[in-house]
Amino acid sequence: MTSAQVAWPRAAGSLVLRPPMSDDLDGVLVQRNPPDVIRLLLRTTVDPEAFRRAWLDGVEDPDQHAAVTELDGLVIGTGWLNVRDGVGQPDGDAWRGTEADLGCLVDPAHAGRGYATAIARSMFDLAFTELGWIDGFTYGILAEEWHPAP
Ligand SMILES: CC(C)(COP(=O)(O)OP(=O)(O)OC[C@H]1O[C@@H](n2cnc3c(N)ncnc32)[C@H](O)[C@@H]1OP(=O)(O)O)[C@@H](O)C(=O)NCCC(=O)NCCS
Repeated sequence: MTSAQVAWPRAAGSLVLRPPMSDDLDGVLVQRNPPDVIRLLLRTTVDPEAFRRAWLDGVEDPDQHAAVTELDGLVIGTGWLNVRDGVGQPDGDAWRGTEADLGCLVDPAHAGRGYATAIARSMFDLAFTELGWIDGFTYGILAEEWHPAP
């Protein structure tokens, strides 16, 4: 968050992304805890105090770019780009800080209006423009696409 390359707050369409403050986090917890939201998240339950601490500690961490998202001054979601070391050959430092988790969450009351799309676009812009990343790829294969050798 404190990385000198990254400018905050940042616009994302009609939204504004900015660093979290303590007063935001009760509302963020309310938005992330409904069953229809957590079914899509990595952690179904979180300890509220640990959650608050992690978000506030992240403000001082140059590898964590986590923001609350305001619409007309109201926090309606969150977005994050958390940089971590890549999977690869651990020689030298070339593999350090080369991967990231990118995600976002939008209050169900504001869903379906393109806000997640705007948040994700802003986070990609942060990665490629401000952090200077040059590439990204994901590889996946479905079982139905797999043809074992005869
Ligand atoms: C998944 C989630 C982020 C979607 O948020 P959202 O704001 O409703 O998403 P968007 O409005 O940007 O996109 C949803 C749909 O609305 C459409 N849409 C509606 N208005 C739009 C607009 N003005 N601009 C762009 N897309 C629009 C999008 O095309 C998209 O359609 P699709 O589902 O066919 O792809 C939200 O439901 C959520 O927070 N879920 C829980 C957390 C989660 O799963 N996060 C993602 C993984 S980290």
